Amino acid sequence: MTSTDWAQWHDAYSRPGSGLDARLDAVRARISRHLDETAPNPVHVISACAGDGRDLLGVLATRSDADRVTALLVEYDARLASRAEVAASTLSAHIEVRQADAADSNVYAGSVPADLVLLCGIFGNISDDDVRRTIEAAPQLCAPGAEVVWTRHRNEPDLTPAIRGWFAGAGFDEVAFISPDEDVWSVGVHRFVGPPAPLQPERHWFTFFR
Ligand SMILES: C[S@@+](CC[C@H](N)C(=O)[O-])C[C@H]1O[C@@H](n2cnc3c(N)ncnc32)[C@H](O)[C@@H]1O
Repeated sequence: MTSTDWAQWHDAYSRPGSGLDARLDAVRARISRHLDETAPNPVHVISACAGDGRDLLGVLATRSDADRVTALLVEYDARLASRAEVAASTLSAHIEVRQADAADSNVYAGSVPADLVLLCGIFGNISDDDVRRTIEAAPQLCAPGAEVVWTRHRNEPDLTPAIRGWFAGAGFDEVAFISPDEDVWSVGVHRFVGPPAPLQPERHWFTFFR
């Protein structure tokens, strides 16, 4: 489906200076914060293009209240999906890992709406039109008040101003935008405040270009 070896891409998480470790810390901090703010209520999470799931699963591994979390992780690469499954099997949270196309709206049927939606490592790998389409479809994944955590590099031309505008236009309030001076990664957090949007079947939201 894509030409990149995404399992190998994950090796950069342990490479000093890659920036990915700092980005991961920022994503995990937002997940932890969401869990703190919603305790002790149940939380349902959707992670699209989840990779090996280390952002969410890494947080859950540190929490005594992980059993209030259910999650759907959608990842196309069989090796990464399998790693996520192994990691999830050690947790008290209820995690489903689906090896499937996360761009296909049908994959989320029965698993929406979510309280927390992770769109990490997607927006730098798809066209600007697909980024916009995905953001405009995000309400279909979201319960009222749900948070979306997303990432995007800020290499020129920096798309993050447009991304933040597209979220606003799709019914989201910005909660945080983390963009360190010393690196190009960024992490955004948006809260869904718009009207509920039913999941539209048979939609294809994006295609990775690498
Ligand atoms: C940049 S990595 C990000 C992984 C993870 N979200 C993270 O931030 O560490 C992109 C991931 O998307 C997966 N992917 C690419 N296209 C996909 C698709 N259509 N459906 C599901 N996964 C996809 C790749 O296999 C890869 O694991």
